[in-house]
Formats: sequence, C-alpha cells, structure tokens
Amino acid sequence: MTKLIKNGTVVSATGRHAAEVLVDGATIVALLQPGSDTALAAEAGAEEVIDATGKYVIPGGIDSHTHMELPFGGTAASDTFETGSRAAAWGGTTTIIDFAVQTYGQNVRDSLEAWFAKAEGECAVDYGFHMILGDVNEASLKEMDTLVGEGISSFKLFMAYPGVFYSDDGQILRAMQVAANNGALISMHAENGIAIDVLAEQAASRGDTGPVFHGLTRPSLLEGEATFRAIQLALVAGAPVYFVHLSSSEALEAVAAAKDKGHNVFAETCPQYLYLNLEDHLGAPGFAGAGYVCSAPLRTKHHSHQTDLWKGLRTNDLSIVATDHCPFCMKDQKDLGVDDFRAIPNGIGGVEHRMDLIYQGVVMGEMTLERWVETCSTTPARMFGIYPQKGVIAPGSDADIVLYDPQATSTISVETHHMNMDYSAYEGIEIAGKVDTVMSKGKVIISDNAYHGRKGDGSYLKRGLSTYLH
Ligand code: URP
Ligand code: ZN
Ligand code: ZN
Repeated sequence: MTKLIKNGTVVSATGRHAAEVLVDGATIVALLQPGSDTALAAEAGAEEVIDATGKYVIPGGIDSHTHMELPFGGTAASDTFETGSRAAAWGGTTTIIDFAVQTYGQNVRDSLEAWFAKAEGECAVDYGFHMILGDVNEASLKEMDTLVGEGISSFKLFMAYPGVFYSDDGQILRAMQVAANNGALISMHAENGIAIDVLAEQAASRGDTGPVFHGLTRPSLLEGEATFRAIQLALVAGAPVYFVHLSSSEALEAVAAAKDKGHNVFAETCPQYLYLNLEDHLGAPGFAGAGYVCSAPLRTKHHSHQTDLWKGLRTNDLSIVATDHCPFCMKDQKDLGVDDFRAIPNGIGGVEHRMDLIYQGVVMGEMTLERWVETCSTTPARMFGIYPQKGVIAPGSDADIVLYDPQATSTISVETHHMNMDYSAYEGIEIAGKVDTVMSKGKVIISDNAYHGRKGDGSYLKRGLSTYLH
C-alpha cells in the first residue's frame, strides 16, 4: 500500500522544506520535490493521497522515559501498556522506551521477562526497554553484557530511594565500569536519597505531612550534588552518563560544566519542570498537591529553574525532552499518602501531551521548530540506538509520521485526555497547535479526531548502542 503525503512542510532537526513524502508499506521510500515529474508520477500511482496543506510533517515523537504499570509504593502506575501507548499515539508519540525494573533481591532476567510479558501484544506504537538495576551485584553486572546484545543498551541507576532502588557509589562505579566496556549508557536518577530521607523523616516527625513537603525535603542542592558526584564517578569509570528528569539549575550547571570540558554527559528534562512549580502545584490547597508529587520534585518559582531549563534546551546542555510518564489516580492511589507525603506514589502522567507542550516552546520563542523535532524525536532516537529507523523522515526509515496543525488549538483536560488518570496535571493549559494525523509504520492510527489502530500494532524495538558514542 503506497501513500503520498503532499502539500506539507517537512521539518527535521536541521531544517524545513516543502516536500512530498512517499510511503510504501511500513517504510518511507522517497522525499519528492512538489510538482516534479517524480512527484506527479508518485501521486498518480499512490493508493492514498494525504493532504497536509498548512501542516508540519514531522517524525513521530519518541518518549524515551515512560513507566507503564510501574509498581510503586504498594500500587502500580495506572496506565497499562495498552492505555498508555494509545494515549502516546493520540499525542503524536509513535515510540516509547519504558523501564523494565529489577528490584532489590530480584534477578535481572526474570524481571525483564515480566516486562516483556506486560507489553507484548498490547502496544499501539513501537516500544523498547531500558533496564532499571535496583540491585547491582555480580549477577546483575554480568547480565548487563547479555542485555546489550538483546537490544537493551541503557541501564538506570538510582541515587535516591534507599532500600528500594538505591545504589551506593561503589555499585554505581561498578555498573559504570561495565558500561565503559560494553558500550551501554548509564541513566541516572540523581538525588541524594540518604540525605533526603533524613529531611523527610524530620519533616514528618514535626507534623509537616502535606504534599508540599515532598518538594521541600528534596532540595535542588541535593540534585546538584548527586549530579556532580555521578559525573565524577563516570569520569573515573571512563563511561558516558545520561541524567533523567533533570529539574533544577544546580543539576544543569553540573551537566553544562562537564559538557564544556568535552565529557560524554547528557541530560533530559520533562514538561512538568518547564510548566509546573512547587508553590502553585505541589503546594495547592488541601491534598491537591499530591497530583504533582514526582521525583525529582517540582521546583520553586522564586528562582530561575524554568528559565534555565528552557535555555538548556536551546544550548543543548539538555538534549532531550521525555515525560517520565508515571501516572497514578488521585483516588485509591495518590490518596495512599493523605496522612504522610512519603506514602504518596511518585509520578505524573503526561505521555499524551509532550509534543503539544514543547511545541508551545516554539510558539513562545523558547526554541525553533527544528529544535522541537530534535529534542522530542531525533535526539532520543540517536541517544538510545534506534536511529535512523526512527527519529527522521528519510528514505528507509519507518513511516512514523505526524501531521501537526499549527493553526488548530485545544485545551488539556481530564475530560478529553486518553491516559488512564482521574486528573490532569496540566488541566486547563491552552495549546496553540494540534496533532492532526499520526502514522505508525505506514498505518494511519489517528486522524479526524479518531483512533484507528489496534493494540498489538506496536512491536518491540531491539535497540543498538547510542550513536552519540559509537
Ligand atoms: O516520580 C517519578 N519520577 N516516578 C517514576 C520513577 C522515577 O524515578 O523515574
Ligand atoms: Zn527517576
Ligand atoms: Zn522515571
């Protein structure tokens, strides 16, 4: 089945131009000059012509940080692979990279098999896995080599959550040494969890138990400190390091300084850190702030964190925008912590709104159209070893294509979103621009405000090594 997308503006990480995109089956086969003989011939022969007049034609979004069904604090993230990946599709994201989890005492292989079982046959879009190492020991270090060969080329470690996912500096150094040897990328949750637990315990014993204390006991200095420390460990090991959900100026400064010295240090931020803050959201009256509990936490508005993050995205000190999609409902989930912020499950859902929210950066003049495509699609593909299969509109690449309408508008709301959540962290935000059509491997799965895909359309992506390093 051939399809021709005509009259649109194709946007890549490096430019924009009028072009027609010819798709054959699941693959892009050509970019054609509008009006040229080849374009006219392609149109005559195409089984379907899609009119993209007035729209941007961009590579499908890649959300390299999601947690479907993540067990956390006695409950589990409320989106399944089916509901979460379908919501991703609605929002113009055609690939997710989720985190398989090894918790303390578990074996890496069994944990990974459990994640394959959760996702297989369920996803609306293609998916890959990172592996969380929650118990770095001889066996899990050995397993890292095997996993790289199986397409799991990145490993997340935690400097936070003592007793749950936490790795000490020795464990981190060992995992980094393995990564230096086998080409994997270590992703880091950089917050000093030992110090945070002291502050959290002190707050709770004072009776400071509301959601805002989640943020107040996780100061940005402790994200900055952990980020700096992880960079030193990476340098000692000779390994690259990638910081997930970077939220603060202090952490960004540490990354920028290392990058300036030419080190292989990378970072992502997330929409919540660009749009939400500690006072208005985490500190909302009553228990409403629980909906904004995530780690790293939202930061104070009385500091330049958000301005610095937008700047970091422009300067490439921040390479990627991912969501850290980890949704919990208020009812029966967030409210587990109604008496103590430490029992509120950590996470915010947003997989559906990343492309829209970051496009607002283009509208506001914070970044270019090309940088939007780069941070939300092309760089994640390159960073996590799926480029050029994904992340670019080019002959030979998967036909994962989004038609984005800059003239349309929408308002984010729990009433209209497709994520399995009973609230939206972005309720009421008005979006200039809208995902119009989504094609996943040549199949139109979103058009005319309707979903046309099926669970199981998405397949597992065996990833290679990061092309930033190899
Ligand atoms: O609050 C968050 N970020 N929950 C998900 C787990 C993690 O640390 O990424
Ligand atoms: Zn994390
Ligand atoms: Zn996460």
